[in-house]
Amino acid sequence: MALFGKTRESRAPVRTIEAGGLSDGTLTLTLAQIDPLAVNVVKVDDSRSLAIVVMPDGAYSAFNLQCPHLGANLADGAFCTKDGTLRCPWHGYEFELGEGRFIRNPNVETLAKARVKGANFDPDKAIDYRLRLYPATANGGQLVVELN
Ligand code: FES
Repeated sequence: MALFGKTRESRAPVRTIEAGGLSDGTLTLTLAQIDPLAVNVVKVDDSRSLAIVVMPDGAYSAFNLQCPHLGANLADGAFCTKDGTLRCPWHGYEFELGEGRFIRNPNVETLAKARVKGANFDPDKAIDYRLRLYPATANGGQLVVELN
């Protein structure tokens, strides 16, 4: 699928995992529970869900499912397994999932003529959104995610 001048993979499947191994602020899953081609969604409690994906280098990235821009559910976004990025379903902001950095706002290109400096908008202002990551370590067939 071509979008905003870049070739992207189609939306990755979403897989839901039961958060059975929760104790003392850590979540423990077996690696077999994690689909390397999917956005693996884990419901931690009533107010928090996180996503786990496998990065191109085989590392695991665990991150909060709420987009830091306006709160979209990132499980509905497009996960690119090839470059380890995710595009938000609402406004298309892209994040790399290794460090959670914002990397691209497609509106800068598509709305270039409408992005005029005004009293409430500065097109040159840097965007500093960042995904909330949770440290995730694989060891002995298990993945331990620190939630605090
Ligand atoms: S809510 Fe995610 S880019 Fe706007």
